[in-house]
Parts: sequence; C-alpha cells; structure tokens
Amino acid sequence: MLIHLSLLSFLLASASGRGLIPPSSPITLPLRVLPRDANAPPTVSGITPVKISSDRQTYFAVLQTGAISFRVALDTASADLWVVGSTCSSSSCAAVPRYPLAFDSSTFEAVNNNATVFQASYADGTVASGFVAKESVRLANVTLPGQAFAIVTDSNVTMLDDVSGILGLGFPRLSSISRSVADSMPFFPSLAQQGILDYPLFGLSLTNDESGSLTLGAIDPTIVTNVSQIGWNKVVEFSPVGSESNASSYLHWATPLSGFSVNGKHISPLPTYPKVTANASLALFDIGFSGIFGPYQDVDRLFDQINGARLVDDGQWAIPCDTVVPLSFTFGQQTYTLEPTDYLIGPASGNPEIVWHGRGPCLPVQTVSIGNLVVPSSGRFTQSSAMGSMQKSPHSSDFML
Ligand SMILES: *[C@@H]1O[C@H](CO)[C@@H](O)[C@H](O)[C@H]1NC(C)=O
Ligand SMILES: *[C@@H]1O[C@H](CO)[C@@H](O)[C@H](O)[C@H]1NC(C)=O
Ligand SMILES: *[C@@H]1O[C@H](CO)[C@@H](O)[C@H](O)[C@H]1NC(C)=O
Ligand SMILES: *[C@@H]1O[C@H](CO)[C@@H](O)[C@H](O)[C@H]1NC(C)=O
Ligand SMILES: *[C@@H]1O[C@H](CO)[C@@H](O)[C@H](O)[C@H]1NC(C)=O
Ligand SMILES: *[C@@H]1O[C@H](CO)[C@@H](O)[C@H](O)[C@H]1NC(C)=O
Repeated sequence: MLIHLSLLSFLLASASGRGLIPPSSPITLPLRVLPRDANAPPTVSGITPVKISSDRQTYFAVLQTGAISFRVALDTASADLWVVGSTCSSSSCAAVPRYPLAFDSSTFEAVNNNATVFQASYADGTVASGFVAKESVRLANVTLPGQAFAIVTDSNVTMLDDVSGILGLGFPRLSSISRSVADSMPFFPSLAQQGILDYPLFGLSLTNDESGSLTLGAIDPTIVTNVSQIGWNKVVEFSPVGSESNASSYLHWATPLSGFSVNGKHISPLPTYPKVTANASLALFDIGFSGIFGPYQDVDRLFDQINGARLVDDGQWAIPCDTVVPLSFTFGQQTYTLEPTDYLIGPASGNPEIVWHGRGPCLPVQTVSIGNLVVPSSGRFTQSSAMGSMQKSPHSSDFML
C-alpha cells in the first residue's frame, strides 16, 4: 500500500511538469525536517556565549573540534567551518591556538588523504587555504560527529583575541566544502536536517560586550521574553529557483528592506535593480563584517538628513560626534532603531583629511555605496533564523517590549 502511494505521488509529480512547480514549493526549502520515529533519540538545544572582538569587528563563540576548544568568529555570509592547523606558520596563524595535526585525535577522519583543497577569500582581500577533513564538532552542548571542516595551512586573515577560525552560518549554497566533499553539509544545516535539534533554528544576540549568545534549536529566553513579538520576514530566493535546479534557492540571509528613517523622517529605499527585485530593496545580514553598506542613492539621502554630515572618502561619510539623531530600518511590519551609540565608531582623529569647523567629527559605522545591499550589523541586534526567516532588534529595551 505504501509503495503504491509513493509511486502515485511520483507519477503526479512528473505529470505536473517542470514549469508548474511554484517557486514556493516545499522542495525549495533549505532545511528538510525528517519525521521522527518513536525510537529516535530525544532532540536537543543549546546556548553558548558570544563575545565581541577587541577591535569590535567580529563576534566569536567557542566550539570543540574533537577534544580541543577553539574560538571561532561567527559569519552569516559564509557557510564553511575552518580552524588554523599547526602547520600554518604565517604570522597571522602563529598568533593564535592551532589545531594540532600531530595530536592524532581519535575523532579525526581524513578526507581524500588530506588532498581535497580548501580555499576562502574575504571582502577585505585576505585569503585562507588548507585541506578538508572531518571531525566531531561540539557547539553549545550539541555534538555532530564527522562534520566536514577545513584545516587551514596558509592564511593572512586578520586573527585577534585567540580566534582560530570561522564558523559559517550561511546557506549550503555558499559552502565550498559541500561542493568538494560528497554528502557533506555545513554544520548548522546538517544539525537541522538530521533532526537533532528541538527546532530547526538558531538565534543570535549580538551586544557591545561579552553578553551575547548563540542558541541552537532554541531562542534565548532572556532575550526573547515574548515569542509572539518576533517579526518573521521572508528570505529572498536567488536564481536558479524551484525545479530549475536541485539546489535550494536560498543563498544569502537577505530580506526586503521596506524603508529607513533618520530622526523620524521616512525615506523609501530606491532599488538599484528594480526590474530584478520587483521594486524591492534587499538587505543582507552579515555578522562577519562590520558596517552598514547601501547604494549611493540611498546612503546619500540618509546623510542629507544629518546636520554636518560630510562625504570624506570614496563613498564614506563622517558626522559630528555630538549627533543625537536615531536611524531606523524597517523590515516587514517592524521597525528597529539605532541610537548614535550603536552606529558611531568614534572620533575620526586619525584621519587628517577630515577637517571640521568647531565640532568634532565622528565616523559612523562605515556607510558606503556598494551594490544594492544595506547591511546593518552594528550595535545590539538579535536574529532568529528558521526555515528562511529572520528577526532583528537593535536594543534590548526595544526588543519584545
Ligand atoms: C592527514 O592528516 C592527519 C592529521 O595531520 C594525519 O594524521 C594523517 O596521517 C594524514 N593523512 C595522510 C594520508 O596524509
Ligand atoms: C593576503 O594574501 C593575498 C594573496 O596572496 C593578497 O592578495 C592580499 O593582498 C593579502 N592581504 C593582506 C592584508 O595581507
Ligand atoms: C553543557 O554540558 C555541561 C557538561 O555536561 C554542563 O555542565 C552544562 O550545564 C551544559 N550546558 C547547557 C547549557 O546545557
Ligand atoms: C506577547 O505579545 C503579544 C503580541 O504583541 C501580545 O498580544 C501579548 O499580550 C504579549 N504577552 C505578554 C505576556 O506580554
Ligand atoms: C538533479 O538531480 C538528478 C538526480 O540526481 C540529476 O539527474 C539531474 O541532472 C540534476 N539536475 C540538475 C539541474 O542539477
Ligand atoms: C515598479 O514601480 C514602477 C513605478 O511605480 C511601476 O511602474 C512598475 O510596474 C513596478 N515594477 C515592478 C516589477 O513591480
């Protein structure tokens, strides 16, 4: 009987034809939750601290590969996990704890005799390379055996505060390891797809100090005190979508930005590619990179509203340090407000090009013209991500009132 039913659904699926499967068809979901049987182990969730780096550019958490703990920077715009290995002798690697290749970890599994190459490059021009292997990875009390990751043997990625690598929390389509190792998945999608977690979601609370958190399979109840007030936004799909490809159409944690305002004055964003995005402006959430980036036509109108704002460099603005106006960004129905303490880096004293008249200049978190992406990633925000959804709040006091 079961066989007949599945055959029937197979035939129906074929008969419906490629073009008839809507883009929102369940086959495009990135995370497939497997049905659980009665004998399945109980699901889990975990919470672990997230701290801001001393240069205030990244957030990091602690995970274990095998028996060894490492600090890893969190990044929502990449999807691979890597740590530097003991054979990496560049000045960048030498400054941080390294995965000891001679240690002979009992949970280490070689992939392709250590000959599968890993290469990553980042927006600031730095690069890391090494080889792919598998290890037992434990984060927030959640353990995943045999996780494909990379051991970096050469790198000039800036490493501070004993942070030894990067944990990518992006969608599988961004993973280079998944492409080079058969049947492998990035850490979080793998946890979700195997049904290990209570819920297929992660939560991030990012603060200006050491008080942030990363939750797996759960939301931090000290941050989210009323789950009904979480704003759910659709994550936009990137071509190819639906039946054109076997890959998920989810690529970036990107969602439509409905508007922004300066000191209460609303500004409608002007999309750079209105025909492609159906007149919507998209915002990409990248916690691995500091700054707010937007297209020139929007950033220019934003700073028009701030007294004394000046374009000081190619696409970069500075504003008076005594600026008090709040900036708001609206996603879906919810508006999130950044106060100057959230969006100002500090005095631009090191830059002789910036000459001011009477008032001290301040650099806002880098706000430059680039592509069609606005990336708010400064200050305090919390993001819960589940099956293509995201929520953000800049202040603990604004959050879930
Ligand atoms: C792969 O690397 C591990 C860790 O350094 C090492 O123990 C193992 O011998 C290597 N395997 C090969 C085939 O080089
Ligand atoms: C890092 O290395 C790459 C490749 O060699 C090079 O192009 C880049 O300029 C380097 N970046 C830094 C900051 O050293
Ligand atoms: C994680 O596991 C350790 C050791 O088993 C335990 O002491 C700790 O309370 C656990 N933490 C959480 C958040 O479950
Ligand atoms: C939680 O939020 C919902 C939606 O705003 C509201 O109706 C409800 O009263 C709130 N619950 C509590 C306990 O504050
Ligand atoms: C999708 O997967 C099937 C079966 O693995 C394969 O035959 C087909 O070529 C794939 N299609 C694309 C567009 O990758
Ligand atoms: C975008 O907006 C313009 C002006 O309101 C309208 O003419 C056009 O049809 C819209 N395009 C799309 C794809 O929604």
